[in-house]
Amino acid sequence: MSQTSSASSSSSNLSTSHFIGKKEDIVKAGRVTKLVNGCRDVLVVHHQGQLYAMDVHCYHSGGALQYGDIEEFNGQLCIVCPWHKYKITLAEGESLYQAVDDPTAKPLRTYWRSKGVKQRVHKVTEVNGDVYVTLNDSGEAIESDVYQTEKYRRASVKA
Ligand code: FES
Repeated sequence: MSQTSSASSSSSNLSTSHFIGKKEDIVKAGRVTKLVNGCRDVLVVHHQGQLYAMDVHCYHSGGALQYGDIEEFNGQLCIVCPWHKYKITLAEGESLYQAVDDPTAKPLRTYWRSKGVKQRVHKVTEVNGDVYVTLNDSGEAIESDVYQTEKYRRASVKA
């Protein structure tokens, strides 16, 4: 059994592992979306040999992260939301941005900064070629929670 991605979990029934699909199918597709436990739209990504899972609706405005490019910023793999190009780390759900320390300096010098965890990430496990997601049910509110309602559920996200 291998375990990838990171997310905390506690003892409620949301901590149960939910079958997502066969690893070979996810590897072939690169990413899949799934309604998990009837309550959470989750994106599972396979990238460079690793599996990651996060809420599929972008924390900023509900963008469809399943269509985002994956790029590295400041040494961290991010999914880039196709709507407004926010960069969200695959492993932690942190939102990264470039800051300027002195707007009068020429040329401008920019630094990568984190806004903190904005997108809820979930734990992914693989057992004998089957991939499971365990929902991160930490009680702490995370901004992407706002878009986990029927109102924002999209036809592209299937159970
Ligand atoms: Fe994702 Fe705006 S909805 S960046």
